[in-house]
Amino acid sequence: MAFPPACGTVSFAPPFMERLPGFRDFYPEPLPHKDVGSADARQFIFRTWREVARRYGFREYDGPPLEPLELYTLKSGDEIVRQLYNFTDKGERAVALRPEMTPTLARMLAAHERSYKKPVKWFAIPQLFRYEKQQRGRLREHFQFNADLIGETDPAADAELIALLVDSLRAFGLTAADFQVRLSSRRAWQEFYAARQGDPARAYDFYQAVDKLERDPPEETDQKLRAVGMSLAEVTRFIAAGEPTAELAHILASLQARGMGDFVKVDYRVIRGLAYYTGPVFEAFDAQGELRAIAGGGRYDNLIQLISGGKVNLPALGFGMGDVVLLELLKARGCLPVWGAGMEVFVIIDNEALRTESLGLVQQLRAAGRAVDYALTPTKADKQFKRAQELQAAHTVRLERDGTGTLRARVRRLADRTESVCAPAEVERHLGI
Ligand code: HAM
Repeated sequence: MAFPPACGTVSFAPPFMERLPGFRDFYPEPLPHKDVGSADARQFIFRTWREVARRYGFREYDGPPLEPLELYTLKSGDEIVRQLYNFTDKGERAVALRPEMTPTLARMLAAHERSYKKPVKWFAIPQLFRYEKQQRGRLREHFQFNADLIGETDPAADAELIALLVDSLRAFGLTAADFQVRLSSRRAWQEFYAARQGDPARAYDFYQAVDKLERDPPEETDQKLRAVGMSLAEVTRFIAAGEPTAELAHILASLQARGMGDFVKVDYRVIRGLAYYTGPVFEAFDAQGELRAIAGGGRYDNLIQLISGGKVNLPALGFGMGDVVLLELLKARGCLPVWGAGMEVFVIIDNEALRTESLGLVQQLRAAGRAVDYALTPTKADKQFKRAQELQAAHTVRLERDGTGTLRARVRRLADRTESVCAPAEVERHLGI
């Protein structure tokens, strides 16, 4: 785009505005470039998540994308705090874009828990922001399906939530050959640490070292473990034994009873990076082990108490499933549909004298729930027909007057080019789609 030179001497061309790294634009399909997001895929994922949540009796909630910074510095853990998009607002408040939903949920529940019967079963699909190093499966924004169950200490609740996680992935057509839920227990690791006289003040450093076990080089992990008085050999032995705690055995039995035994296995390598987890924890991974975690969650029985300043004490558990890794997996397994414009009818106006009547027909069909398009301005008939084809319209309809001057509608089904003629008021019935 050419801009006139600024008064007098200097000429400048404004830069072409790019999106920020780690953020996505979502275009309707077919996509103009492989590096852009698909608005259709996003809708498809959200719809599927909502549908599964409905089947499990979860109600939708939402909160603000901007929260007080303190909400996250309280108990989310150093890693997520380092990744915060935070700033001071014009009212001198320290604020942050939400990097996760759990503290918001804890805050919302603490404020109004008395209005809701327990257990509370809620879900949300927030967009979250983390200043991460952009890499495969990790962006600076993502959408996350959050499902949480509040007010129940029994492991039956953990099993119910994991069943929802399994079904949220099965609903896309994925099977036990595609993904697996690794089940573990923060409590089991707490006991491991306490039994070896670990310093309680450094417990979180220990969990962090275990959390990074698969990603960090063994020497680095060993060093981190030694710094808190543990050794890699002991940790590796504990993982290899994989003995389920009584709580985990209960969860496994409940999942087996639902026919979901194949989807879950005990794996103590999972400990979760976030600081607030207290009991069973879990992560879902692709079965080939090529991608990062698809979802993660667990029990956080103390967070609501902490966020309410000790006023509300409610056990809770939940998980978050991101759209980024999920989409990669769905693409790799061919589980995404092909999207078109979804147009049902294109009304062709080849006689401008009938534009008023044609507009009447367009609105009549839209009022009947049909997706209808037409040429906004006078356009050659063949161009209108081409546009109908581009939109993959199932039908074209054109109005005409017969020999007696009566208005008729010519309905054409584009799949087989069959035509029928009817009164304009009958078009809807003639579509038959
Ligand atoms: P999280 O493990 O931090 O847990 O995130 C859950 C999932 O969100 C991850 O497994 C991953 O799929 C996705 N995810 C996280 N960060 C990114 C990123 N930068 N780019 C793309 N995807 C990402 C939580 O956030 C917990 N609050 C979940 C929870 C809910 N726990 C209890 N209730």
